Amino acid sequence: MTAATATATAGTNIALVKYWGKRDETLNLPATGSLSLTLDRLGTRTRVAFDGGDGARDRVTLDGAPAAEKVATRVTLFLDRVRARAGIAARATVVTDNSVPTASGLASSASGFAALAVAATGAAGLALAPTELSVLARLGSGSAARSIFGGFVEMARGARADGTDAAAHPLDAGDGWNVRLVVAITAAGEKALGSTAAMRRTAETSPYYEAWVRGVDGDLAAARAAIAGRDLAALGAVAERSAMRMHASAMAADPPILYWNPATIAAISRVRALRAEGASAFFTIDAGPHVKVLCDAREAEAVAAALAETPGVLRTLIAAPGSGARIVESA
Ligand code: PMV
Repeated sequence: MTAATATATAGTNIALVKYWGKRDETLNLPATGSLSLTLDRLGTRTRVAFDGGDGARDRVTLDGAPAAEKVATRVTLFLDRVRARAGIAARATVVTDNSVPTASGLASSASGFAALAVAATGAAGLALAPTELSVLARLGSGSAARSIFGGFVEMARGARADGTDAAAHPLDAGDGWNVRLVVAITAAGEKALGSTAAMRRTAETSPYYEAWVRGVDGDLAAARAAIAGRDLAALGAVAERSAMRMHASAMAADPPILYWNPATIAAISRVRALRAEGASAFFTIDAGPHVKVLCDAREAEAVAAALAETPGVLRTLIAAPGSGARIVESA
């Protein structure tokens, strides 16, 4: 008998109101809510079959090669939850491909665990509601909870200790609003410090962490209102403020966490200069040196061109709002 197979795709998402801090590390429960835009590019495609794997273990292939031990372990821990829920004992074969190389340092865990949640539950024959899929994806990576949905998405902090109310929900598909996200890649290679360790250090040692947490609800309310009113300037202002405050709280940790390189600052300056010239463009930065710019679709090519000629920027790409994670093939 051949095992049921399911293939799912998911787009990554970029937070406009950042998630930075956990109230529970085991369950990836966030200390605050967050708000993001799911993209049509920088996604993941994952096929899962509970076919016995290589006998003893799950067989995990990432971008055409056997996954590194660390990645494979994370995938197995995640699949164990799905197996427990579905009453399956079989090891699995997982084939996953990112549309941007994992080693580029661009977040791939968000789309990765969203795609894995949808493909694994599909292959296991579990029919989960979108909110349950979001909760499940969160267990793989906090930001993955948001990639279950398309467009603008809000993640709830939740209050329960078991995390069943720490899930994302869609706010606006984003298709009626002509926005783009331009990514300026400023370094090759993986980020220096993973988000879990950096969040922990910020929460434990930064004198600015509490202030950061206190500010997020206000930013969420402002971002929600900006999206409802299709006010790009207002949304952009929140995004820049949230990113700067997140990084400021990390920079004040002990030892300090600095994700930026000279090109990060050059790109920030370039975005500010473009805005002074009348462009609707606003930056955000995640746990790495790359700069992501939210802008009007009509200006995206010009914004990308300006960033491409900024010293230290290696390459740029333009993404549009994308759809949520979904099954694309099953057998
Ligand atoms: O989901 P994680 O553990 O990779 O954390 C994501 C953290 C940021 O990307 C910096 C912010 C966010 O909300 O996505």
